[in-house]
Amino acid sequence: MLSDETVAVIGAGNIGRALIGGMIGSDLIAPEHVIATRRTASALDAMADEFPGLRTTTDNIEAVQDASIILLTIKPQSRAEVITNLRDHVERDVLVISVLAGITSERLQLDFGQDQPVIRAMPNTPALVDAGATALSAGTYATEAHVDKAQSIFAAVGDAVVVSEEYMDAVTGLSGSGPAYVYMFIEALTDAGVKQGLSRADAADLAAQTVYGAAKLAIDTGKHPALLRDEVTTPGGTAIAAVSALEEHGLRTMLINAVGTATQRSKELNEE
Ligand SMILES: NC(=O)c1ccc[n+]([C@@H]2O[C@H](COP(=O)([O-])OP(=O)(O)OC[C@H]3O[C@@H](n4cnc5c(N)ncnc54)[C@H](OP(=O)(O)O)[C@@H]3O)[C@@H](O)[C@H]2O)c1
Repeated sequence: MLSDETVAVIGAGNIGRALIGGMIGSDLIAPEHVIATRRTASALDAMADEFPGLRTTTDNIEAVQDASIILLTIKPQSRAEVITNLRDHVERDVLVISVLAGITSERLQLDFGQDQPVIRAMPNTPALVDAGATALSAGTYATEAHVDKAQSIFAAVGDAVVVSEEYMDAVTGLSGSGPAYVYMFIEALTDAGVKQGLSRADAADLAAQTVYGAAKLAIDTGKHPALLRDEVTTPGGTAIAAVSALEEHGLRTMLINAVGTATQRSKELNEE
């Protein structure tokens, strides 16, 4: 899909490195056709050792000279400085794919020039282990072929779905930020086991594997989570006693409100 492309990954930190690993590891593109940038030269050297053939530079302008696709994986706070320096060096037919939380396609089009093909993507950190969940939306000038190319990049590190831009803040609140909520859940479950006398190591293993296994069962069977929950809750048993306690403390409302708060924060980021 990307054999004719050259991809510049601007800001190859956690997410950028994961995407480079996914693209190269799945043979989507040859390492010689990927250029990674960041300011720390030693980190780029380490990446070049990890992915033989990968091109690296601390100079963003040099990186985009050859590129047909630019993957922007810097932090939103660096957007203004990085794009201001780059915009005059980016041809108008170059596809820009941004993972910057909260930054709309419209804003990116304005940053680069009105007719720039732009795709906004929201991956999450499980992309680091090829189990990411990414949603993508196309800007005004992105074609179907652009969307397919972008989707292939994120599909190399997990699941990738295309949604309309209006849902991207909700995606940021759900799957983009979601791993943080799940880690809190695992941590709390671990503490709960320790409170009941289990060693911390055993409790941590059991808690993480329970979350992983339950998610895998839901995905593999495609069954509604309520059905799967029913299968665990024996009448008069232990699980239904705990489910009742969770309902009493408003677990669902808490999560619905948490995702709502993160969605709102994503909207605010575009205004800053
Ligand atoms: N982490 C998540 O869960 C997550 C989920 C979805 C989307 N995102 C989005 O992904 C983006 C990156 O997040 P991340 O967690 O991967 O952050 P990160 O690890 O900090 O990566 C950003 C990289 O940008 C580099 N950088 C900073 N200024 C630069 C410049 N002027 N030129 C070139 N490179 C520069 C930094 O390296 P140097 O300091 O060496 O320059 C850093 O390695 C963010 O926009 C975030 O909104 C993150």
